[in-house]
Amino acid sequence: MRKITLNLLPGDGIGVDVIREGRRVLERLAQLHGGLTFHFKELPWSCQYYLEHGRMMPKDGMATLSDCDAILLGAVGFPGVPDHVSLQLLLPIRREFDQYVNFRPVTLLEGLDSPLKKSAIDFVVFRENTEGEYCGRGHVEAADTPDERVVQEAVFTRKGTERIIRHAFEHAKKHGLKRLAGATKSNALNYSMVFWDKVFKVVAADYPGIEARLIHVDALAGLFIIKPESLDVVVASNLFGDILTDLGSAMLGSIGVAPSANLNPERKFPSMFEPIHGSAPDIAGKGIANPVGTLWATALMLEHLELPQLSTKLMAAIKSVLKARQIRTPDLGGKSTTTEMVDAILGELQ
Ligand code: NAD
Ligand code: IPM
Ligand code: MN
Repeated sequence: MRKITLNLLPGDGIGVDVIREGRRVLERLAQLHGGLTFHFKELPWSCQYYLEHGRMMPKDGMATLSDCDAILLGAVGFPGVPDHVSLQLLLPIRREFDQYVNFRPVTLLEGLDSPLKKSAIDFVVFRENTEGEYCGRGHVEAADTPDERVVQEAVFTRKGTERIIRHAFEHAKKHGLKRLAGATKSNALNYSMVFWDKVFKVVAADYPGIEARLIHVDALAGLFIIKPESLDVVVASNLFGDILTDLGSAMLGSIGVAPSANLNPERKFPSMFEPIHGSAPDIAGKGIANPVGTLWATALMLEHLELPQLSTKLMAAIKSVLKARQIRTPDLGGKSTTTEMVDAILGELQ
């Protein structure tokens, strides 16, 4: 019997709903599989926890979290706690567990209606996940005076830049993908992105079979909309990747469907899987959150746990419910609840 320990971080708002449903799906998959059990450890770290304890996680939180095979996260953030405070849960996990690869597929599954009149949307984005614009450094001078001056730093290291770009090229090579776009802005960001371009070109030289292009991120955003079929693999810095993948999820018709994998490829630390979306306070408590982003992320987690058949089975069930267009949450134009949509997906798993 293989026992897999998962740390669950439901977080806030609809994060709680989607993780409850993710757990239900994993329990069913284990029943169907035999020879496998999931052991769940649910951690209550959230904005509510912050209001009670004055911190987003206990002092030994990272040690508690590290003891597992993978982490599944809903979303954190809720009115009443500033976002830059609540995100002191998510961002330290990505950084301290060295989850430097943020993998975000943008694939228009059948039954999803893109706002673009396109059918071929199928590419992947690799986002740097531990440094760059998210390094967290900066300072304020002369606060609340007319001379106030705020500095927000971006730190790009040779190691950090090279490893994410190389990971993207390796993915392209492994999957026979021929076109790789690097998101830059070296026309304006004269240190960080000039450096990014330099490293990109050095790495690209190792992959002569792959057509590598540096594209300014503003133009690349346009290309997402006008010619998404020209994209196979995109690699971007932390902030650019964040913005581009929200755009990518909108191209699939709803942010509720898009998945995200925060990977530590060396497996020295656990990797973390989550939907791209946030805690959606506007629909929290209504039971209508789209569960697909979380379940797709769960499928990515199963793949990471070297359970490819279970991952494929789950994706097939998700695809078949989307394709049937009968049971879908309001963001996809339907009237179903989160639970009804997951029930339908469970039905397809049998
Ligand atoms: P959001 O993703 O929570 O919501 C944006 C819009 O998309 C809202 O209208 C929401 O109702 C809708 N939406 C999101 N997920 C959906 C789903 N599964 N089904 C149906 N509709 C869905 O982004 P936001 O409003 O910018 O942020 C809200 C809070 O979430 C903030 O506190 C923010 O910091 C936090 N946040 C957390 C994460 C995370 O923990 N990974 C990610 C993004 C935002
Ligand atoms: C995401 C989110 C986070 C990010 C926020 C909540 C800090 O938007 O996972 O895309 O910017 O990385
Ligand atoms: Mn984002």
